[in-house]
Amino acid sequence: MTLLALETSCDETSAAVVRDGQILSNTVSSQIKLHAEYGGVVPELAAREHLKNLLPVARAALAEAKISPAQLDALAATRGPGLAIALLIGFKAAQAVAFALNKPFIGINHHEAHLYSPWIQNASPSPLGGERAGVRGGNATAQHSTFNIGHPTSSKAAGSPVPSMVNVECSALNVSHKPHPSPSIPLPSEGRGKSEVASLCAIASPSPLRGERAGVRGELLPFADFSKFQPNVSLIVSGGHTLLVLVESELKHRVLGGTIDDAAGECFDKTGKLMGLPYPAGPLIDKLAELGNPAAFDFPRPLLHDANDDFSFSGLKTSVRYFLRDHPALLDDRKQVCDLCASVQAAIVEVLVKKTIRAAKREGVRCITASGGVTCNSALRNELERACKRNGFTLRLAEKSLCTDNAAMIGILAERKLLANASLPSLDEEIRPGWELA
Ligand code: KG4
Ligand code: ZN
Repeated sequence: MTLLALETSCDETSAAVVRDGQILSNTVSSQIKLHAEYGGVVPELAAREHLKNLLPVARAALAEAKISPAQLDALAATRGPGLAIALLIGFKAAQAVAFALNKPFIGINHHEAHLYSPWIQNASPSPLGGERAGVRGGNATAQHSTFNIGHPTSSKAAGSPVPSMVNVECSALNVSHKPHPSPSIPLPSEGRGKSEVASLCAIASPSPLRGERAGVRGELLPFADFSKFQPNVSLIVSGGHTLLVLVESELKHRVLGGTIDDAAGECFDKTGKLMGLPYPAGPLIDKLAELGNPAAFDFPRPLLHDANDDFSFSGLKTSVRYFLRDHPALLDDRKQVCDLCASVQAAIVEVLVKKTIRAAKREGVRCITASGGVTCNSALRNELERACKRNGFTLRLAEKSLCTDNAAMIGILAERKLLANASLPSLDEEIRPGWELA
């Protein structure tokens, strides 16, 4: 089955072509730079960008996969959760194409798709052979092209019909901040320490979180390998969500817990903002934390010992706020800023890892998976690896390029559902912006 999937739930416009579990293309246009100015995603701006970018992104995905619309067997799009005016664009466009081609269409829950992205691996030789349109050399990691249409930073790869990749950062799902909110407590970073933090930002400028593309020749196509599927506890951590889900079998899951206030990514972003770091601060904190001491400052580990699978990160953010109010000079000292990043990160990671392991033990599964933007975090990846080794669990982390929002995971789940004879919705089905996993 050859399927085109669209994802526009937040601030990434993405299209992917999937065939028989293989990802033939996965194109992402990120709006991160646009929203960074406002400290969070502005829904109206996101919608306008999706409208502008969706067709070029879809065309690029089809061209890269060497697939014409007439060759498509089915269409899919994210139905929810997400920003309503952003979701509408991809969802309605995919329905319209399905109508025009008279092909099946299926709407997908974004978080359910995250549950299966850790099963996408680089395991299958390319059936296309030779050189792909627009593919540059690189490591054989997940096939994933990224570009920003009309961005001055975007450039065309030589001879490529597809705009070349640019550095793309993570976004925040369901996070809609007012531009420049006025804080109730004066932020130390607004006065002193600003230049120190700014110079640290330059040192730690994030490497591309995505943009690694499969190699040109003898490349491996990312492949969803469900032959190795095991019941698992899945951690989904992003800017808008922190979820623990028991995946009992393929397409059968039960939510164990979620965040009762701020999501883990939101905590990274908001504490980073208190330090004067630009949005999204998660990747920067990750980099700066490498230079710091995670035991330097002791921050709370919220709900760590509570007998549930829920999370809460807003108290941690507040304690960082008060800590900075009481120690404003800290932001003048590079080493201490790195220590602060490492200490905040350690608190978030410890809660995520310990609660995930505990849930897996209790549910009697032997496998843990993780995805979502925060799964790019190196300390989280390392600590999950260590804890799984200690406890004899298999760990499957989504490829970094597939942790953040992408249409490939939407396409992979859509194909599984269609093959499992999921009932097809009518073409006038609507989006579900508040569609939470059950
Ligand atoms: O999944 P994602 O791209 O979008 C949402 O659906 O939210 O996740 C974005 C979130 C942001 O909060 C960002 O700061 C965080 O993921 N993030 C990270 C890292 N990379 C992205 N947080 C910590 N460390 C990272 N390396
Ligand atoms: Zn997501």
